[in-house]
Amino acid sequence: MTKQTSDAIERVLLDEEKITARVRELAAQINTDYADVDALALIGVLKGSFIFMADLARHLTVPHRVDFIALSSYNRNTVSTGAVRLIMDTRFSVAGRHVLIVEDIVDTGYTLDYLLRTFRARQPASLRTSVFLSKPARRQVEVPIDYLGFEIPDVWVVGYGLDYADRFRTLPYIGALKREVYEK
Ligand code: PRP
Repeated sequence: MTKQTSDAIERVLLDEEKITARVRELAAQINTDYADVDALALIGVLKGSFIFMADLARHLTVPHRVDFIALSSYNRNTVSTGAVRLIMDTRFSVAGRHVLIVEDIVDTGYTLDYLLRTFRARQPASLRTSVFLSKPARRQVEVPIDYLGFEIPDVWVVGYGLDYADRFRTLPYIGALKREVYEK
């Protein structure tokens, strides 16, 4: 880790060991729940989910395939309006498949709500969500999370896929960013 990085982190919220243990638990639960399913479709939301997806998927024993989508949200840096747009779609059709959406974080809930509405309309055989982090204090719209890693307080977190201005995504832990980094 560079000095610049360590200077930006206030504290470690979740260390590597805790994350690994929890991801294994989630995968075990998914393996049990989908034991009778012959092909689970994991759909990760870029960019934030790429590390959680990689770790989760590698602990799955149920047959699965991996795909990604990309979204664009308007006014993300000011007050979230909930306006979300799909800018890259799945490569396979989700109709009739068992779909599990994989997200790094649910904040206001607008993104996941949009995704659930979008994918439900495509008539999958089933539709569930796996989310690494949730900030319940920020919720504007209630969304179902079937497999949740951790609930966290309303602080700006980075690492394990999450960024600040596209930095810090590959930190192996979840760290709270110092206020001065995002308020300057
Ligand atoms: C983050 C995260 C979710 C969304 C959650 O994405 O990955 O998709 O915000 O926020 P919400 O619950 O308030 O809708 P972001 O726009 O930061 O993009 P990124 O994953 O590419 O960093």
